[in-house]
Amino acid sequence: MAILVTGVAGFIGMHTAKKLLQNNLEVFGIDNINDYYDVNLKKDRIKELQKYQSFTFLEGDIADRNYMMNIFQHNSIQIVIHLAAQAGVRYSITKPDAYIHSNLVGFATILEMCRYWKVNHLIYASSSSVYGANTKIPFSTNDGTNHPVSLYAATKKSNELMAHAYSHLYGIPTTGLRFFTVYGPWGRPDMAYFMFTKNIMEGKAISVFNKGLMKRDFTYIDDIVEGIYHLLNHMPQKNEDWDSLMPHPSSSHAPYKVYNLGNNKPVELIRFIETIEQLIGKKAVIDLQPMQAGDVVETYADIDDLQATIDFQPKVTIEQGLKTFIDWYQSYYGINVQS
Ligand SMILES: NC(=O)c1ccc[n+]([C@@H]2O[C@H](COP(=O)([O-])OP(=O)(O)OC[C@H]3O[C@@H](n4cnc5c(N)ncnc54)[C@H](O)[C@@H]3O)[C@@H](O)[C@H]2O)c1
Repeated sequence: MAILVTGVAGFIGMHTAKKLLQNNLEVFGIDNINDYYDVNLKKDRIKELQKYQSFTFLEGDIADRNYMMNIFQHNSIQIVIHLAAQAGVRYSITKPDAYIHSNLVGFATILEMCRYWKVNHLIYASSSSVYGANTKIPFSTNDGTNHPVSLYAATKKSNELMAHAYSHLYGIPTTGLRFFTVYGPWGRPDMAYFMFTKNIMEGKAISVFNKGLMKRDFTYIDDIVEGIYHLLNHMPQKNEDWDSLMPHPSSSHAPYKVYNLGNNKPVELIRFIETIEQLIGKKAVIDLQPMQAGDVVETYADIDDLQATIDFQPKVTIEQGLKTFIDWYQSYYGINVQS
């Protein structure tokens, strides 16, 4: 079974591809290695994957229709795990075009490939950010998601809608995964846990928004990858009980499904920072900042649906996960722990 992983040089893409390769699956990975963050980190992730013989790296843009056609024409791809996107909430305020290009034009191209080449299953990354202005906690896939508070969130919500149209029109099984703040080794330098670790080690101040009065459902990368892996052969079926008079938001008369993929244990930002401080053995210099545009105060995943489908149970605690991240950080950047 050949699987295409888009965004394979990215954080979640690399870990997902590695899991597939470790399970003897053939993986084609595409990424345009853009410079949103350190390109060398992306290249190093690809080097990790090139240790496996059944991995093929393809450097290119998912929005390039001819390039994508060529990939599908020459390889028998049965499953697409679509993780390429312009990520980041705050960046979407200053660079909206990057989101339109990768998350909308790119996503449309992926859907067209799945339609034309009759792919068995499209699994794609959505985001907890689709819950936007909702404050009902925990966030459930039964809730409406019509009030995004950033363009990033709006593109992810659009992906879910576009996927539904293709599932309905062409019968393509699509599974959308709303990831909740993913962290771990080989992580993203633009994310708070990465910047906190770097700045605390370097004795620099960390910016903490909304006076630290925030909660995040931090989810360790291995738990995310387990969820994706177990859904591979769980193609969504048409929900025969779906009622068009009372339309359930996350399933359909079409082979379409959306799940939350999160830890189900939100942590206060201040406690998260304290855990990093303890693991590094150094206090943070905290620069309190107001709430940022596009941000939300709390995220918390209701994962009942995913538990019922694949018996999903996140395993890694914040303490374990952050320790593994910090160990990786020190080893990758060659930081002497004693200094
Ligand atoms: N990390 C999180 O906490 C989180 C949370 C919610 C959703 N997500 C989503 O999960 C997916 C993976 O996120 P990540 O954290 O690994 O991000 P990432 O930025 O590390 O990975 C995305 C990869 O996609 C590539 N890419 C972007 N546009 C492309 C294009 N047009 N063509 C080809 N490649 C392109 C980038 O170069 C990058 O390597 C994204 O869709 C993201 O929006 C992530």
